[in-house]
Amino acid sequence: RNQELEQLLQAHEWSSKLYHYLLKNTEYGKPAMEYLKSRGFTDKAIDTFQIGYAPARWDTLVQFLDKRSFELEAMEKGGLLSSRQDGSGFVDRFRDRVIFPLHNRSGKVIAFAGRVLGDGQPKYLNSPESKLFTKSRVLYNLHQAKNEIRKTGQVVLFEGYGDVISAWEAGVHNGVATMGTALTESHAAILRGMAEEVLVCYDGDSAGQAAALKSIPILEGAGFFQVKIALLSEGLDPDEFIQKYGAERFRHQVLDGAVSSVKFRLIYLRKNHILLEEDGKVAYIKEAMPIIAALSSPSEREIYLKELSADLQVSFDSLKQECNELRTVMQ
Ligand code: CTP
Ligand code: MN
Ligand code: MN
Ligand code: MN
Ligand code: MN
Repeated sequence: RNQELEQLLQAHEWSSKLYHYLLKNTEYGKPAMEYLKSRGFTDKAIDTFQIGYAPARWDTLVQFLDKRSFELEAMEKGGLLSSRQDGSGFVDRFRDRVIFPLHNRSGKVIAFAGRVLGDGQPKYLNSPESKLFTKSRVLYNLHQAKNEIRKTGQVVLFEGYGDVISAWEAGVHNGVATMGTALTESHAAILRGMAEEVLVCYDGDSAGQAAALKSIPILEGAGFFQVKIALLSEGLDPDEFIQKYGAERFRHQVLDGAVSSVKFRLIYLRKNHILLEEDGKVAYIKEAMPIIAALSSPSEREIYLKELSADLQVSFDSLKQECNELRTVMQ
């Protein structure tokens, strides 16, 4: 049983090397290399993240693994191969895709994500869950980021592979990704074991912002002392922002400009109300007040109430009174 796991790890390691080699050193890899270059991926990034390419053939990995005496059925169970529809053997799972290897915390390859070159569905094809790979526990790039996370006490949380990679090139070495927007309690607990502060840097589109909102109770529930949220303009994701505006602006505007979780929740709420109308103001105050009233620190409450007062041109005193009344009810 242990030997089965070892075999599967070995197969992932070798497959990862093969895909990386095919991307960098063969004719097969040329279109994928051009695609990556067109997106701004550097040779260094391709090496650091061991990016590869799975050719548009059915048996690249089948042949490769078979020659090395791996048991193909076990490889299928482990997510590297697929069964033929008629049951007569196996075919490659990943074909004509850029390959991003996923590693466990100690740096062993445990799964792959394959991206289509350009448009096409599904955009990403991932390994299925296996003895090696539990999606709810794996964080992309944790094996390379963990030292920097511990050293700085901060982790930056992204949605996707490209975001982590571009941020890495922009000098942000404490970034990991949840591979989509499904942050779990396990993810949060793993990260909390390494850092006190988390900076959520999800995509600027509505899905990303909604996911950032959902991440707040999960991260606070895991015991992070500070949860900050980065705001991305124009619906861009971090990768797109860096390609468009550069590393410097990403670090100083997006990361340094990240707001507290309370502020983010207020900004998020504010978007749903028309504040030129009295009804809108009243409704916004009604929804914002429980968030502010729940803060245990009086000075923190004062800061947000003052901002609200200036923003809506409602007196600080009446907001404070409302806040205090709500606090009595909440206790
Ligand atoms: N994802 C996935 N399967 C999909 C779409 C997304 O697993 N069909 C995961 C990937 O980990 C992806 C992340 O969700 O990196 C974020 O999704 P999205 O923002 O749509 O993709 P990007 O990372 O921006 O991908 P790209 O820049 O390559 O277009
Ligand atoms: Mn290399
Ligand atoms: Mn997204
Ligand atoms: Mn994205
Ligand atoms: Mn992207």
